[in-house]
Amino acid sequence: MERTHNNGELTINNLNEEVVLIGWVAKKRNLGSLLFIDLRDRYGITQVFIEESWHSYCAEIKNEYIIKVKGKVVARQDPNKQLKTGEIEVSATEVEIINVAKTTPLIIADETDALEDTRMKYRYLDLRRSIMQDNLITRHQITKTIRRYLDDLDFVDIETPILTISTPEGARDYVVPSRIHDESFYALPQSPQLFKQLLMVAGFEKYYQIVKCFRDEDLRADRQPEFTQVDIETSFLSQEDIQNIIEGLFKKVMKEVKGLDVTIPFQRISYHDAMNNYGSDKPDLRFAMKLHDLNQCLNGIEFSVFNDTIKANNNVKAIVVKNNADKYSRKDIDKLQELAKKHHAKGLAWLKVEENAFVGPISKFFNEEYTTALKNELNLENNDLVLFVADEWQVACNALGALRLEIANQLELIDNDLFEFCWVVDWPLFEYDKDDQRYYAAHHPFTRPAVGQEQSFASDPANAYAQAYDIVLNGYEIGGGSLRIYDQEMQMKMFEVLGFSDQEIQDQFGFFVNAFQYGTPPHGGIALGLDRIAMILTNSESIRDVIAFPKNASATCPLTQAPGLISENQKAELGLKTYKK
Ligand code: AMO
Ligand code: AMP
Repeated sequence: MERTHNNGELTINNLNEEVVLIGWVAKKRNLGSLLFIDLRDRYGITQVFIEESWHSYCAEIKNEYIIKVKGKVVARQDPNKQLKTGEIEVSATEVEIINVAKTTPLIIADETDALEDTRMKYRYLDLRRSIMQDNLITRHQITKTIRRYLDDLDFVDIETPILTISTPEGARDYVVPSRIHDESFYALPQSPQLFKQLLMVAGFEKYYQIVKCFRDEDLRADRQPEFTQVDIETSFLSQEDIQNIIEGLFKKVMKEVKGLDVTIPFQRISYHDAMNNYGSDKPDLRFAMKLHDLNQCLNGIEFSVFNDTIKANNNVKAIVVKNNADKYSRKDIDKLQELAKKHHAKGLAWLKVEENAFVGPISKFFNEEYTTALKNELNLENNDLVLFVADEWQVACNALGALRLEIANQLELIDNDLFEFCWVVDWPLFEYDKDDQRYYAAHHPFTRPAVGQEQSFASDPANAYAQAYDIVLNGYEIGGGSLRIYDQEMQMKMFEVLGFSDQEIQDQFGFFVNAFQYGTPPHGGIALGLDRIAMILTNSESIRDVIAFPKNASATCPLTQAPGLISENQKAELGLKTYKK
């Protein structure tokens, strides 16, 4: 079976060598008396010229057969510049069929029009496509680089349980019934959060793990029910120290995987500024189109929607689509309004600048004074389109943030070769839920309040900030972490604000709270979303394209058909009765 070379390595330097190649038949071309076969493996494609004496043996060969050829390397009359091996071909003097293949349900090529469910059902064929192989190999390079980097910094890789109890990351748990303990379930970890903190109590100081996490939540292009974190925890380090470690990690990954020198430190943006200026807590910094606040500039304007908003201490905010107003018809703007409404805006007001004048339904409210004021505030020029949302600050920011991204995509304002990292810091410690009339932890209940708020966070939760930080790349949250509470008293206060009873604390976190009585070091950490990082670095549109065997949007695996039914015996053994919902 020995091959002498792979299908990606022969060049003009190998001329006249006798070689043996093995691979899948990527293409067979029969040009009358001439027969060519493209042989493919992980490394590339080599063209094989089949000598006439072998034509009848080769007649049955179809795409995806595995064959072995022996022959001589010869120069190609017209080289193919697209291929690494494009200068040569192998002139075969022997051919052997190693294995046959049925016609594949999807074409093995970079471009595919196969439905994603078909690709997932035949994932082993989908993964034959070189684009998918490149994605997974890039993912491997990323994890390899991360492991080496953390290893050099003295981090210890420690595994934590998969069969465990609920962890408080805010999603629904996946649960596993216990056979031995009636009516009891394990929960799969939403993250190793509690265990990594216990490893700090144990004294490991620097822990990491590349680990599967499980969350039963609504799926999107950047979410999977099981996904991988680069999970990190440290003792005795400041927030700045932890951020430095992560910046060094990404500098190294970007260099080794993409050959790029990224500048560190990354920009730090407060949560408030991220929302206020970009309308997102994970701002895409590859383009500008910032949000503007117009409360001052438009104070007193006759348009009641704006005036009432300003009087009520809410916000009139706007974005400017520079020099592209002519590309937006009323119908297009209606569509933008629909998008704004999806984000809870009540409407979308707009203006165009044509021949130095305002055009559009609300232009009549702009007298000379307000026209000049707005032009100055927004640096308006002809063919600019202004989109306004008047609402509560959060709603106005969210709606315009969504429009900013949509328009950047429509107008292709984003340079796909750019990688813009930033930190989002100074997060609120709590989120207030109007329906439940209570506070929830914005991150998780072990997050340390801001310096100086050690006492006040409990009495004034609405104004409490966290020592938490998210890392963002190109508009995706690729990691999040925090410094943790390490003193018992503060932890108890935190549980109190979150409305946990003593019993609930003991039931849910008893083991954890107890551990903190035995000398807990100040500690903090972060978890990076490996799938998302790999998705961005491979320019993929979905994290499914960087996961070998992902789930589809309804959380099923079209290949294995998971989740599946279990037998009545299995159910009886587990003490389970099931019914259709
Ligand atoms: P967090 O919940 O922010 O933090 O998760 C960390 C990172 O994991 C990625 N991520 C996901 N990726 C794919 N699919 C999902 N369903 C999914 N959910 C999250 C994101 C996110 O930034 N224990 C804390 C970390 C800590 O405090 O140290 C945690 O899990 O990129
Ligand atoms: P109306 O006076 O309600 O007909 O609204 C006039 C224009 O203002 C329409 O284009 C609405 O979409 C828009 N509009 C209404 N409410 C808001 C709002 N809260 N923010 C921005 N525009 C709005």
